Amino acid sequence: MDSSRDNLFTRFTTFWWALFVFVGFGVLLAVIWLFNNSEPKNLEDVVAEARYKNKEDVLKAQAAALPQETIDKAISTVATQLAASKPAAVSTDAQIVPGSARAKAKEAGGSVDPTAINKAAAESTDPVDPAVVEKGKASYLLCGACHGQNGEGVPMAGPPLAGSEWVTGPVSNLVIIGFRGLTGPITVAGKEHTEFVAGMAPMAAAMTDEDFAAVLTYIRNSFGNKASQVKPEWVKAFRGEIGKPQLPTSELIKPEAK
Ligand code: HEC
Repeated sequence: MDSSRDNLFTRFTTFWWALFVFVGFGVLLAVIWLFNNSEPKNLEDVVAEARYKNKEDVLKAQAAALPQETIDKAISTVATQLAASKPAAVSTDAQIVPGSARAKAKEAGGSVDPTAINKAAAESTDPVDPAVVEKGKASYLLCGACHGQNGEGVPMAGPPLAGSEWVTGPVSNLVIIGFRGLTGPITVAGKEHTEFVAGMAPMAAAMTDEDFAAVLTYIRNSFGNKASQVKPEWVKAFRGEIGKPQLPTSELIKPEAK
């Protein structure tokens, strides 16, 4: 700069210009920020909002305490639909995808001769562990949709488990019913059932050995039934049944007449 123009006055003005430009940019940035600060509304946000709203409505409806008949009706509707739905049938080993959950389940245990297991269960004198029964009760909610929460059966959805000779009979039947489902007319506690056209779908293939054993222990020791507990290793022994077609009732091992 020309030294003759370098005086206090120019320095002072330059300072104010600089400050002015600096603050000016600051204000500009603040304005830009304000304009861009509104909530972004992308598809996910809109969907999330709708879901929160739905959840709120559901919670409100639940809080309004539904009458028991409404609940019972809803349960039997769900059960009827479940009963009518066709299970995905994997009928040959060649159809099992290598590395799939189903293939792993199969590797975990092969099919075995049920005689030894059924004998061990029938002769077992081990006391039934109440903690296992309690655990089984929680998973039974699923079965209860079709068999009734008190094992009383649900019209058009599932036969009773209360007083069923199948439930207190050979353990292998129960494990295989869970892994393959069941089809065909069946007599339970003296009453013949032919109304379950779709039969029962495999319901336990995804359960752990412990959980499924606990459910079976629960049904064998509830609703007035009394039988041995079911050990997780007995469940595991039949994992090779997973993926076979629905078990025809004619292939069940007959329980001893009571
Ligand atoms: C979607 C409905 C449905 C669900 C859920 C269901 N079942 Fe079944 N179950 C049936 C039907 C239907 C039959 C009769 C099948 C036939 O013979 O055609 C049956 C039969 C049975 C039988 C033999 C008959 C009897 O009444 O003793 C047993 C035992 C059984 N189920 C146990 C279970 C267990 C344990 C669960 C839960 C892991 C379960 N079921 C879940 C529908 C269901």
